[in-house]
Amino acid sequence: MKRNNILCIGAGYVGGPTMAMIAHKCPQYKVTVVDINHERIARWNSDDLPVYEPGLDEIIRATRGKNLFFETDIDKGIRESGIIFVGVNTPTKTFGAGAGKAADLQYWEKTARQIREASESPKIVVEKCTIPVRTALAMERILTSKDGDIRFDVLSNPEFLAEGTAIHDLEFPDRVLIGSRETPNGLEARKAIVDIYLNWVPREKIIESNIWSSELSKLVANAFLAQRISSINAISALCEKTEADIAEVSRAIGLDSRLGVKFLNASVGFGGSCFKKDILNLAYICRTYGLEDVANYWESVVDINEYQKERFILGILDAMFNTLAGKGICLFGFAFKADTGDTRETPAHTIARRLCEEKAELVITDPKAIDNAKIDLQDVDGITYEPDPYKAARGCDAIAVMTEWKVYTELDYQRIYDSMAKPAFIFDGRNILDHKRLHEMGFNVYPIGKPPLVHFT
Ligand code: NAD
Ligand code: UGA
Repeated sequence: MKRNNILCIGAGYVGGPTMAMIAHKCPQYKVTVVDINHERIARWNSDDLPVYEPGLDEIIRATRGKNLFFETDIDKGIRESGIIFVGVNTPTKTFGAGAGKAADLQYWEKTARQIREASESPKIVVEKCTIPVRTALAMERILTSKDGDIRFDVLSNPEFLAEGTAIHDLEFPDRVLIGSRETPNGLEARKAIVDIYLNWVPREKIIESNIWSSELSKLVANAFLAQRISSINAISALCEKTEADIAEVSRAIGLDSRLGVKFLNASVGFGGSCFKKDILNLAYICRTYGLEDVANYWESVVDINEYQKERFILGILDAMFNTLAGKGICLFGFAFKADTGDTRETPAHTIARRLCEEKAELVITDPKAIDNAKIDLQDVDGITYEPDPYKAARGCDAIAVMTEWKVYTELDYQRIYDSMAKPAFIFDGRNILDHKRLHEMGFNVYPIGKPPLVHFT
C-alpha cells in the first residue's frame, strides 16, 4: 500500500489548509490535493491563494513543490495514493426530496465512484467533509460494488477548524477524532491515520471511536456551538426590553465553569457555510428517524438566527424614523466573521439585500471580502464597494458593523463622524466599538442587547 502518498479530493477551505498542515508536519509523506475546479488549483499554485487564512501563506510557501502538490489529474492522484481524504463540499440540497434541509451528496458520491473506478490497489478512504451519520455505509457500498478484490477501508475524520483561525486550530487542535469500523481491517486503517496526526498532535488529544459516533459528533458539535449563539442572541432581545446589558449577562454566566466563556458574544447572527446547513441536516436526519420533536428543537436554533437578522434591520428602520429611502448606509465588513474573505451565509448578505429593498444607498467595505461581496450581490444595482472605511463612510447617514474585524476598532471615529451626514448613526452588530466614546462624539449608537445611546429627547 502506498501509505506515504496522501491524496485529498477537494481543494477548498478545508482541503487546502488541512493538507498544508499535514505536509508541513510530516515531511515523510507526499501530499497531493486535487479538484475539479482547475482555476482553484491554479490559484493554489500561485501567490494569490484562493483562501485567506492568517499563517497559511507561510506554510504553503514552505511545503509547495517539496511534499505538497496541487494538481488537476484526479485519477492519477487516486492511483498513486494509499490514503485518500475526501474534502468535497456537502451543501444543503436545493432540489427534490429534502430540498432546503438535507445534505446534497452528489459531489461526495461522484468522488466515491471515481475512487472505485480509478483504484488499482487498496485504499484507506477518509471522510474529511461533514456528512450525514451513516454515510460511510453508502461509501462502502459504492466502493465495493465493482468486481475485483481491491480492499477499501472507509474512515471518518471530521474537521473542526474554524475559518480565520484555521492554521492555529490545525496545529493545536482541541482534539482529533478518528472513527472506523471495529474490525481488524478497520482498526488497522485507523492506526494509519492516527500515525499521521501523531507527528504533531499529543496522543491524548487523538480520540478514536466507532465510525457512526465520529460522523454524528461533527454535526452535533456544530449544532451545540450554534445553539450557544442563538441562546445568547435570544437573550439579547430580552436585554433590549429590560435595560439589562448582554455583555454583562454573558460575562456573568460564562464565568460558571460548567458553561465557559467562549461563544457567548451576541451578534447580528451567525454565518458561515456550515452551522445552518449542518443543523438543518441534523434535523432532517432526526425527522427521517421519526424524531419530530428533536428535529423541531434543533431547527429553532436556525429560526432564532433568522429572527436576529430581521430584528437588526427593523431596529435600523425604527431608529432612522422608519424610512431608509435615499439614505447612505455603510456596512463595515461583509465577511461572515473576522480574518476571512469567506462570505458564505454571512448575515451581511441578508442585511444588504434588506437595506436595498428599503431603497437605502449602500456602501460596502471589508478588508478581504469585497470580491466575494460583489459576486454575492451581482444582481443588485447601485451598491458602492470601497476598501477604505474612511472613504466608504463619507457622506453616509449610518454605519452598520457587520464583521468584527479588529481594524474597525482602531479607526479615527471623530474623523468619520465629521465626514458623515447628521444625525449620524452607528449600529454595532458585533458590539466591538467603544459605544460611550462614540456617543460623546455625537453618534447615535445602537448596540446589540444593550440600551441605545442617543441624542434625541
Ligand atoms: P469548499 O466549497 O471550499 O471546497 C470544496 C471543494 O471540493 C471545491 O473546490 C470543489 O470544486 C471540490 N469538489 C467538489 N466535487 C468534487 C469532485 N467530484 N472532485 C474533486 N473536487 C471536487 O468547501 P469547504 O468549506 O472546504 O468544505 C468542505 C467540507 O468540509 C464540507 O463538508 C464542510 O461542511 C466541511 N467543513 C468545512 C469547514 C470550513 O470551515 N469551511 C470546517 C469543517 C468542515
Ligand atoms: C464553525 C465551527 O466553529 C468549527 O469548529 C467547524 O469546524 C466549522 O464551523 C465547520 O464545520 O465549518 P466557522 O463557521 O468557520 O467554524 O466559524 P465560527 O468561529 O464558528 O463562527 C461562526 C459564526 O458565528 C460567525 O458568523 C461568527 O461571527 C458567529 N459567532 C461566533 C457569534 O455570533 N458569536 C460568537 O460568540 C461566536
